[in-house]
Amino acid sequence: MAINVDAEYHKEIEKSRRDLRALICSRQCAPIMLRLAWHDAGTYDAKKKTGGANGSIRFKEELDRPYNKGLEKAVAFCEEVKCKHPRVSYADLYQLAGVVAVEVTGGPAIKFTPGRKDADCPDEGELPDANQGVSHLRTVFCRMGLSDRDIVALSGGHTLGRAHKERSDYEGPWTQDPLKFDNTYFVELKKGESPGLLQLNTDKALLGDPKFQSYVELYAKDEDVFFRDYATAHKKLSELGFTPPRRIPSAMAQQTIGITVAAAVVIFTICYEASRRSK
Ligand code: HEM
Repeated sequence: MAINVDAEYHKEIEKSRRDLRALICSRQCAPIMLRLAWHDAGTYDAKKKTGGANGSIRFKEELDRPYNKGLEKAVAFCEEVKCKHPRVSYADLYQLAGVVAVEVTGGPAIKFTPGRKDADCPDEGELPDANQGVSHLRTVFCRMGLSDRDIVALSGGHTLGRAHKERSDYEGPWTQDPLKFDNTYFVELKKGESPGLLQLNTDKALLGDPKFQSYVELYAKDEDVFFRDYATAHKKLSELGFTPPRRIPSAMAQQTIGITVAAAVVIFTICYEASRRSK
């Protein structure tokens, strides 16, 4: 579902992007903003066409679920930007926050198309359980309509941030520099458990399946490939349940199309007449 996106809305999005950049840098909150974007979108059910990136995580009932613990902080940060740009939907704002979080920490640029509509009630879909393994990961991400490649690339989001005992019962970062977006999540994963660094069951599961493992190897070896695949997968994630509005060609483009069609008709008629007369 989409809302009306006019030139004014685009301007508000760009202003929100700037405000988010400043806020994320000053509060050093990139990791939790990325987690917010993922948890808002990750409720999507591709078969039922429910959930997705629709801002529903702002509702207390959804925010209070155990796997969303801690995200009230990120919702409150986004509210500061929402107050300044009330026209921007929560759904757009949370996804924009995720995109900006990746960019300002050194990750790839992710294309962002605005127009997400806000849900008016909480979503149902569950997020993955960190204690589980390969088949659980596939079941949950497949429900969202995402592929094996997406699962592994997106798991690389754990290059940012850390777990907090009081939120998830896990503790610690996945990498040495949790405020830098790079491919070290995969490098560390391949090394196995090291003191001070975290590996969830769902992280380890990426080495327990040949297809997942081949992507882990690829991303550990080649950061450019990881960035390319991550940007593609993140865009997909950020658009779950959202069909971007089709762009209406500008007046200028419409005029150009009109002139081209008219010229083609004239040329065709001349050629047709010429060939008819020569017969
Ligand atoms: C594959 C399934 C996933 C599981 C089971 C999982 C689980 C978790 C858990 C348990 C935490 C710790 C929360 C805390 O204690 O604060 C966490 C944090 C985090 N997750 Fe995931 N996650 C998954 C996928 C993802 C994806 C796809 C992304 C983004 C693309 C992501 C981004 C993050 C970030 C950035 C943090 C750190 C948050 C912070 O520092 O406050 N996760 N995740």
